[in-house]
Amino acid sequence: MTDPLILIDTRGDGERRTRLITLNRPKQLNALNDALMDQLGAALQAADDDAGIGCIVITGSEKAFAAGADISAMQSHTYMHVYKTNFITRNWETIRRVRKPVIAAVAGFALGGGCELAMMCDMLIAAENAKFGQPEIKIGIIPGAGGTQRLPRAVGKAKAMDLVLTGRMMDAQEAERAGLVSRLVPLEKLMDEALAAADLICALSGPSVMMAKECVNRAFEGSLADGVDYERRVFHSLFATADQKEGMAAFLEKRPPKFSQS
Ligand code: CAA
Repeated sequence: MTDPLILIDTRGDGERRTRLITLNRPKQLNALNDALMDQLGAALQAADDDAGIGCIVITGSEKAFAAGADISAMQSHTYMHVYKTNFITRNWETIRRVRKPVIAAVAGFALGGGCELAMMCDMLIAAENAKFGQPEIKIGIIPGAGGTQRLPRAVGKAKAMDLVLTGRMMDAQEAERAGLVSRLVPLEKLMDEALAAADLICALSGPSVMMAKECVNRAFEGSLADGVDYERRVFHSLFATADQKEGMAAFLEKRPPKFSQS
């Protein structure tokens, strides 16, 4: 029997829990092949559809979050093959449709498609041994899962050009200073920190969490004026929810809120 390419677990003990997805090709440093990405996409979609799940965490091993798309699988691909099969798009893009928050808990290498996968997540919590990079240029290609677009938005043009054009790695400290990383923690604390953040999110009002994610993502994709208008409309719409009434009443009554997720 072959090992599963991803491991799926459910953590936490609240009404809504965390789906923990672990990339599981340790010998290949979690190189991302089509079979793995198909399974990851299905697991993400299932977690998003499950009303008992409030947050998703994706992690890898201590040595590698993921060292990129699987080079041995794609070395012989032709242009016609990648075009006709919509290589990358078909299964890698599922994560963009996930409406619940996704946290990347990154230790070790996050390179190429691994760095791009981490950047597609909503929060990136990194261990001190994490290393980020877009080394595709060294094997005769360029990033193909959003790296040339998301990296400049996260760290600015200067550093993105440096990383994409030279293929060098940056360590976790440099990545945090540059704004790629949400939180930097010792390796032994990585999963505790990521799962604690996920637990906190699970306990909140799901609709407001999803709308907040949608609004922050708008900031990446449109103009400031459009984003602010969009945020205002979503903000207004939250006054139609029971959770807004409950959240504010609980604050005024100095008690914890009891969200009904509606
Ligand atoms: N694809 C396939 N196999 C990979 C891989 C990858 N991206 N990265 C590592 N592996 C395999 C190695 O071939 C090796 O396999 P064997 O034991 O069978 O030889 C195993 O994982 C362990 O790797 P190393 O022996 O190389 O480990 P190391 O500690 O010496 O080096 C590393 C680690 C610096 C990450 C190095 O493995 C490396 O440079 N990997 C490739 C990184 C890369 O170029 N990523 C970009 C891929 S292209 C891409 O991602 C396109 C896109 O945008 C979607």
